[in-house]
Amino acid sequence: MDQIIVTGNGELSGEIPIAGAKNACLTLMPATLLSEEPLTLTNAPRLSDIRTMSTLLQSLGAEVTSLQDGQVLAMSSHDLTNHVADYDIVRKMRASNLVLGPMLARLGQAVVSLPGGCAIGARPMDLHIHGLEALGAEIELRDGYLHAKAPGGLKGATVEFSFASVGATENVLMAATLAKGTTVLKNAAREPEIVDLATCLRKMGARIEGDGTSTITIEGVDRLSGATHPVVTDRIELGTYMLAPAIAGGEVECLGGKLHLVESFVEKLDQAGIDVTETDRGLKVRRRNGRVAAVDVTTEPFPGFPTDLQAQMMALLCTAEGTSVLEEKIFENRFMHAPELMRMGAQIEVHGGTATVHGVERLKGAPVMATDLRASVSLILAGLAAEGETVVSRVYHLDRGYEHVVRKLEGVGAKIERVKAE
Ligand code: UD1
Repeated sequence: MDQIIVTGNGELSGEIPIAGAKNACLTLMPATLLSEEPLTLTNAPRLSDIRTMSTLLQSLGAEVTSLQDGQVLAMSSHDLTNHVADYDIVRKMRASNLVLGPMLARLGQAVVSLPGGCAIGARPMDLHIHGLEALGAEIELRDGYLHAKAPGGLKGATVEFSFASVGATENVLMAATLAKGTTVLKNAAREPEIVDLATCLRKMGARIEGDGTSTITIEGVDRLSGATHPVVTDRIELGTYMLAPAIAGGEVECLGGKLHLVESFVEKLDQAGIDVTETDRGLKVRRRNGRVAAVDVTTEPFPGFPTDLQAQMMALLCTAEGTSVLEEKIFENRFMHAPELMRMGAQIEVHGGTATVHGVERLKGAPVMATDLRASVSLILAGLAAEGETVVSRVYHLDRGYEHVVRKLEGVGAKIERVKAE
């Protein structure tokens, strides 16, 4: 299994191109199931999660062709031949559950294995099920699979989510585009990926209003057409690379970055002593002189601080002046990077959903283990400013969500290499 070796190498400078958003692409791809006509996505990221979704869609009978080195995905669901999303594919990635709503809407039936994915908490599907049932679906769990059907077709309804779940909002939103009548989603998630999905669905002929707010209204239509859509910038990859000069010092411009995607994150960076300016090409990030200051962070649904940047932010705060408190409010088990950072000399206490980080002057390189996608990149970031060599194992987690991580960091002066381990 591969390892990534990072050696602290001083300040960084240069540009890092930011890819299209993994999480947007993973919900835009199943949207192809809603239409007989082709859906083409541009600005797609080159990631193993995207390949997993391609395999899943192909197993259902969709055609998925990867063009231009994977940046363009040409899809067609003219003939769907199967309505069973198999455990062997679904277990690799939780986002596989996003085929449920579209399949149900298009075929009137779907059988989807309960998903796997990152080991960061229970991540049940009750909100997805509740929303689809409100639209008239009958769903039961048998042998680890959700068996869903809507014999008379789906019907518009008002769905109030008890929590603004991203995946449940996406699943029910897609299903509602082909339901009869009006659906109103209350307490819907407001993430930019939802807005991107709604924008693409509108191009396909869906009638949707209110995306980006907590109330989304969908007027069902009989059929959707094809479309071509560019995937929105990955705000999590953006935030991750913004932390590279914040941790190592120097100045880096993240190409394609937009302030409105990362406002709550930038607010915390500013408090920590990091300057961010929007240019016509992206976001320029520079650490002010001296050590960063401690800041408290609470993860929340968008527009709050994203849980997917919590691990990376912790890597920054490990060397801040003072004590920072990080509260994780989205997933119950998302501090697995803390013991790994402690192997590098970080001083962290975890109690339930709260981590208290006492900043130290400098971290020291160590062998560490990636435990999930965002945790793995936090260890690489920490290694950028650590003394000596940090060897990160289990980097397959990283390949799920970061394309060309070595090339991108090398491009701004980091000393980093990927090696084949015995
Ligand atoms: C998406 C993102 C993930 C991000 C998360 C929160 C994708 C592919 N993944 O995941 O990277 O970390 O949003 O921003 O877009 N929950 C329930 N019942 C449900 C659904 C969710 O209790 O039916 C809970 C989960 O266990 C979790 C919380 O709600 O504690 C947030 O989950 P959700 O917003 O659904 O995240 P995902 O869509 O899985």
